[in-house]
Amino acid sequence: MLVEKLVNYIENHSCFSHPIFKNWVRAEPSVEVVSALFHQIRSFCDSTRPVYNLAENLVKNGFSKESDLIASIAESEKNHGPELATMAGHIINKMSANTVFDNLYDQQCIENYMKEKSDLLLERLPGYDKKTGLLIQTKASRNVFEGRKEKGLASLLKNLGATLALEIISHRQLIPGEKYCLVDSKLYGVSLEDEEMHYLSEHWGEAGAEAMHEEAAYNALKSIMDTDNNSLVFLGASLFLESLSSLWDVLDAALLGSGHRWNEAA
Ligand SMILES: [Fe+2]
Ligand SMILES: [Fe+2]
Repeated sequence: MLVEKLVNYIENHSCFSHPIFKNWVRAEPSVEVVSALFHQIRSFCDSTRPVYNLAENLVKNGFSKESDLIASIAESEKNHGPELATMAGHIINKMSANTVFDNLYDQQCIENYMKEKSDLLLERLPGYDKKTGLLIQTKASRNVFEGRKEKGLASLLKNLGATLALEIISHRQLIPGEKYCLVDSKLYGVSLEDEEMHYLSEHWGEAGAEAMHEEAAYNALKSIMDTDNNSLVFLGASLFLESLSSLWDVLDAALLGSGHRWNEAA
């Protein structure tokens, strides 16, 4: 099946096995670095939640069942932005001698703090946008999902490829990576049972949101991919994987020191 080939391609991309979270634990980063990492990661994650015209575009092209599957992913994303901020704020509080955030449900306050730290550490990098606090690589990753605003069959196919790649990466690299460095590493003394860590417990594992998203994206593509259209689907997946891989590279090198502190054999 063509969709299986796509899954295989995603699993073998450097993004899928990127060592950023392993290096996070090795680096035991400061609270400023953790805040800057969260700022860039949450800015990327924000862009992946809205489906814009994708569900409607599927219906227009005769794929109603597939449209429902994609809509179900967007539906389950409700409230994830605020919950991610709460989790980040909880980690930052745990790392600090004095409580930084009295109210872990004040999303804006937590996000502002993280952007400040990002500005402090990353603003000298080429292309850093001081207004939004976005790295050029974060913008590129976000732009992939702006493509969902486009209409027409070609962008529909690219968007579906990017969506399956996103969900596989989220389910099997990003969320397990976050669990590894935030919880399993024991660096921050937090647990999946903490109310403030609900973002992670909801996303992680085979019963979590990302497993459901991956299955939905897979099933949507299963019936749509054919020998005529699969190159566009692969292209969409590749554009996403390349962009996220570049983002992981720059965060890893600029904030975790992976370029000079150690090599893979260490
Ligand atoms: Fe989510
Ligand atoms: Fe997802």
